[in-house]
Amino acid sequence: MPYSQKDDQKYNEALKKQIEKLKKKRNAVIIVHNYQREEIQEIADISGDSLALSQAAVRTDADVIVFCGVHFMAESAAILNPGKKVLLPVKEAGCPMADMITPEKLKATKKQYPGAAVVCYVNSSAAVKAESDIACTSSNAIEVVKSLKEKQIIFVPDKNLGRYVQTQVPDKEIILWEGFCPTHIRVQEEDMLKAKKLHPNAEVVSHPECNPDVLALSDHICSTGGMFTYVKKSNSKEFIIGTECGMLYKLQKDNQDKKFYLPTENLVCAHMKLTTLGWVAHSLEMLVHEITVSEDIRENAAKTLERMLAATGEKKGAAIAGY
Ligand code: 13P
Ligand code: SF4
Repeated sequence: MPYSQKDDQKYNEALKKQIEKLKKKRNAVIIVHNYQREEIQEIADISGDSLALSQAAVRTDADVIVFCGVHFMAESAAILNPGKKVLLPVKEAGCPMADMITPEKLKATKKQYPGAAVVCYVNSSAAVKAESDIACTSSNAIEVVKSLKEKQIIFVPDKNLGRYVQTQVPDKEIILWEGFCPTHIRVQEEDMLKAKKLHPNAEVVSHPECNPDVLALSDHICSTGGMFTYVKKSNSKEFIIGTECGMLYKLQKDNQDKKFYLPTENLVCAHMKLTTLGWVAHSLEMLVHEITVSEDIRENAAKTLERMLAATGEKKGAAIAGY
């Protein structure tokens, strides 16, 4: 029989059934970031932003965590769950921003600012977390910085998030790192201006990883998880979404009466899109690729993440709304 596009749907359905069976056999949970492909979001036991996923990883009773996201996310789950098997279906799924800092370079910067606290965005390696005082995500960065007694803060690695936090916490001095997200910086000011002209009634909701000129054109700035809450509450019927394209799937699904637009078509995180149903099935079948962290680094990185969870009201094992 000649191949038709319907075959792809057939294969995907077969893979979904296989994943369901393997999940039971392995006592596994599938945790999915909001930027993942539609078909991966459909098989999620838990989906959300980086903070929600770290919290979910702390709470799960499963023996195996299949992390559909990028390396630093699975690594955070491994740091917080030393007794569990954490799998990243595609080992090459990384975050280029997280690779823009090394623990050695951070150590050298700390020497330059001996009185400063180090806040690391979760988009960083375990070794960088181990060198930091407290972690943050895009949903709690302001709260985390405000919670510190130090006036000077070394904020790594995202300069755009750091700059945005500085505008919201003017009494702190934020020392920025030269890191950025290659996907979010693709949105140019002119893209946003054009999109606003095309959709004059739309509200602009952007991720803080976008450039400052784009953020200046935004009505609301928040994490991917925050976007769901904001859109649901808003009376507007149209939204321009300044973040990775994967967000539009669930925003549209959950808000059928509203319309969503991207400011530009190329907002694709290549790493986030590496995970496919085939790789998830393979991961559960072969129990690969296990993410591990050496105990000396893990202990310090765990303190950095746990300080963040404590500063934002989450204790290890506490009940989390929605899960
Ligand atoms: P969120 O925590 O807002 O989901 O962001 C993660 C990320 O990688 C954004 O690029
Ligand atoms: Fe990293 Fe940017 Fe991809 Fe998020 S969207 S995982 S920050 S490269």
